[in-house]
Amino acid sequence: MRLAHISDLHLTASDAPGLVRADATARARALIRDLSALPGLDLVVITGDTVNDARPQEYAVLSDLLAGLSVPFVIVPGNHDDRALLRAVVPDRPYADPHLLHHVWQRGDVRVIALDSVSPTEVAGRLLDPQLDWLAEQLARPFAGHTLVALHHPPCASGMGRLDGALLIQGAQRLRALLDAQDRPVTILCGHLHRPFTARFGRSTVHAATSTAFQFALALDAPDEPPTVTQPFHHALHLLQADGGHIVHQRFPDLDGLADA
Ligand SMILES: [Fe+2]
Repeated sequence: MRLAHISDLHLTASDAPGLVRADATARARALIRDLSALPGLDLVVITGDTVNDARPQEYAVLSDLLAGLSVPFVIVPGNHDDRALLRAVVPDRPYADPHLLHHVWQRGDVRVIALDSVSPTEVAGRLLDPQLDWLAEQLARPFAGHTLVALHHPPCASGMGRLDGALLIQGAQRLRALLDAQDRPVTILCGHLHRPFTARFGRSTVHAATSTAFQFALALDAPDEPPTVTQPFHHALHLLQADGGHIVHQRFPDLDGLADA
């Protein structure tokens, strides 16, 4: 199975304020077109902050964008999302809760467990016990394939100074214990920091994706929010093999060139 991981689209319906690039939505559209044309792609995982201001008009943009994606997808919400509005865009999922968006996507020997780490009114994320109880139930089911967990907030520090103050601030320890008890190491996909990095979290490997809307500069131990920087966009392409192998490539689609196409 081939899985593309993208994150933090921060779609806007008009001129974007603040850090978001003015062409963020055009770049996201270009990325979706690029992924739709990628031969052999089986799944796209989008780890939150689909829109910038959680406005209905932005979710209309998201709905239109997803209609052009020719590949199955899994979405988790980020701190910029509105759960109810996002759920209305993607209503046809086996959500395990009337409000939160956690659910499981499974095909063959790959399962993606989507977690909802949003804590309304906070930038940081939380996983509360009811959702972790549900996760424990899913992990207890017999399954011999690849298990991936998708959530917006990284469960471990990145070394990026102040940004590390707004990661997953509740539930990370139990999450780690649950995943460490699995027979096979689990892969965690997240976003939120607008900076790509890889980390070990217990026995799991964390892959954090950058953003199409803006990227932070690498500023280790930064006491303040780091500056944004324009660097070539890339995203991870995971090759999940039947023999248990797991290869991660980095793709560098030219979003600016594609946006003009
Ligand atoms: Fe974001």
